[in-house]
Amino acid sequence: MTNRIWNFSAGPAVLPESVLEEARENLLSLGDTGVGICEHSHRGKPFVAVAEEAEVLCRELAGIPDNYKVLFLQGGASSQFFMIPMNFLKPGDTADYLVTGEWAKKAAKAAKPFGNINIASSSEDANFNYIPTEANYSDNAKYVHFASNNTIYGTQFASPPAGFNKDAFLVCDSSSDIFSRPIDVPEYGLIYAGAQKNLGPSGVTLVIVRDDLVETGNSDQPEMLQYRIHAASDSMYNTPPTFGIYLMMLVFRWIKANGGLAAMETRNQAKAGKLYDFLAGSSLFSATAKEDSRSLMNVTFVTGDADKDAAFIKQAEAEGFSGLKGHRSVGGMRASIYNAFPSEGVDALIQFMKDFEAKA
Ligand SMILES: Cc1ncc(COP(=O)(O)O)c(C=O)c1O
Repeated sequence: MTNRIWNFSAGPAVLPESVLEEARENLLSLGDTGVGICEHSHRGKPFVAVAEEAEVLCRELAGIPDNYKVLFLQGGASSQFFMIPMNFLKPGDTADYLVTGEWAKKAAKAAKPFGNINIASSSEDANFNYIPTEANYSDNAKYVHFASNNTIYGTQFASPPAGFNKDAFLVCDSSSDIFSRPIDVPEYGLIYAGAQKNLGPSGVTLVIVRDDLVETGNSDQPEMLQYRIHAASDSMYNTPPTFGIYLMMLVFRWIKANGGLAAMETRNQAKAGKLYDFLAGSSLFSATAKEDSRSLMNVTFVTGDADKDAAFIKQAEAEGFSGLKGHRSVGGMRASIYNAFPSEGVDALIQFMKDFEAKA
């Protein structure tokens, strides 16, 4: 194998090696077609088969009911920040936003031109290091938007928010924990995720959306920004991100072969659990997120001394641990350990941290 190192990047992030190897083969020729995956027409049979398999596996893995559409869109998760209010809010309508991190805050900001945006809860008072347990929901919200995992701050909702207006539907930005654990799709109106953490490369965004919302969404928006249009053309209204969809299909196969979403959750709990256990017993490092809000995907920690943090990151880089620098708004370190990050890499990091601590 090539000299791959432990990649803790928050995204684009590590992908399963077997997936990359298969993709490498298929870059030159998809199966025996003699045409590489990036060179196939999206309307041709070989690619259509790929897109169909991606959708079938996605539905199977997440138990997506028939009354939901699975869409493969472009523009990143950030484009969902405005597509959602553009499709679902009319002037004067209200939507509730739970602001538990920078991305959730950006989503709320992007929605502002399209309706009354009520910040139902926020953890900004403590630099987003916790998930609030209470929210001031409005009684007329059309939908409630939240980010299930806060990539920058290392916090995660243990379960979806509850107690909001019963006529509102739930919208989830699941970019950094999609398919890391089982998901009860019928609880949601719309789930979206940029692929580049748990599902594939950047450039493709998975959207799972309930049919009635697709049908009743605003039709006076540019066509590229209407779910209705993408749904009616099976995500092929324009040229879709073919390579991203292909890689996502391979990642879905990998998740299935490795036991599905329940098995992913068990593995993720074990990986994050040993890192948090080590942090709890460490005299040098400590986790930054509140215990009841900690993410299984992004583990954020500090030494409490910016110079030591910098020295740690530098030495870690030198020893083959990349991507550990925390986001600038939190500082310190962040180990992103998505589905494809191997357990042995977490063990290696813990050993490295132990050695660093002994010498500090
Ligand atoms: C939770 C969350 N939402 C949204 C985004 C933005 O995604 P994109 O870069 O695909 O627009 C990110 C990116 O890291 C994220 O972590």
